[in-house]
Amino acid sequence: MKKIILDCDPGMDDSMAIIMAVKSSELDVRAITTVNGNYPVDVTSANARKILELINETHIPVARGMANPIIRNVPKDPFTHGIDGQAEVFLPEPKMPLSELNAVDLIIKIIKENPGEVTLVVTGPMSNIAMAMQKAPEIKNMIPCIIAISGAFGLNDYAFLNATGDTPQSEWNVYVDPEAAKIVYESGVEFVALGLDVATHFDVNFTDEDLKKLEESSTKEAKFLLNAIKFINAKGFEAYCAVIDCMAVAYAIDPTLVETFKAHVGVETKDGLTLGMTVIDRRHHFVWEHLPLISVGQKADYGRFLKLLLELVVK
Ligand code: BDR
Ligand code: CA
Repeated sequence: MKKIILDCDPGMDDSMAIIMAVKSSELDVRAITTVNGNYPVDVTSANARKILELINETHIPVARGMANPIIRNVPKDPFTHGIDGQAEVFLPEPKMPLSELNAVDLIIKIIKENPGEVTLVVTGPMSNIAMAMQKAPEIKNMIPCIIAISGAFGLNDYAFLNATGDTPQSEWNVYVDPEAAKIVYESGVEFVALGLDVATHFDVNFTDEDLKKLEESSTKEAKFLLNAIKFINAKGFEAYCAVIDCMAVAYAIDPTLVETFKAHVGVETKDGLTLGMTVIDRRHHFVWEHLPLISVGQKADYGRFLKLLLELVVK
């Protein structure tokens, strides 16, 4: 089993990512750490625990993380995950306590106790991860890989047509805390960026047969997903919005689901039109080699992705 920490900002798709990670027999979820992002951190921390209680997996610690980006104010999200942040399913208030450690310290502790073994799966702004690297730089050599829903690289139309940040070509998780993203991209840790190019593709869609499977399933997680899809469709958005973050968990389970390539990428931290953009230097000549070399997702097998997701949710 692959040990992971899931750092997230639930969010309906983060909630689905939690379900997927916890239910996978390939992953050993050591902690769920929460961050400001889709909602304030108190909401994301409650939502993570609500989901664990829904699926009776309350042994997994949930630690509350950064309430703000590293140096910026919290921006307003133009997109809504509903009043409760979980597609208005209104789960009961959580009973399980939060971890006594905050997310940053829990991340540092778990990595140090398991050097070289814990993959970070990140589906929110990277404030916690960057802060952990600033506080304990020695952990950078102990992280085998970070897999993140991060960036929009312009590799296909979806990257920018579905841009989630509040500048024309940025992705929400980078846009919220670009300085944190820059720290993590430049950390030297193996980094896999699954951007909007692969995570918000319209091919991430559920067939009538898939929806029937969800309707017929008696699991609470199938009902949660079905409600999220209906909620998002009613708002005029495609079903992929309910499962964007699941792509990072799916990649942790099976990296053959997404083709990646290595690229030098810079994160724009200047205010204005391009704030939060993740810029690939694709030039044949004069490439800026000082920009960090990361793996960028360019093509996913959506059929296998949805099959994996449905198998975990329906059974
Ligand atoms: C990201 O934005 C959030 O709304 C989603 O949870 C996802 O992590 C995609 O840009
Ligand atoms: Ca998210």
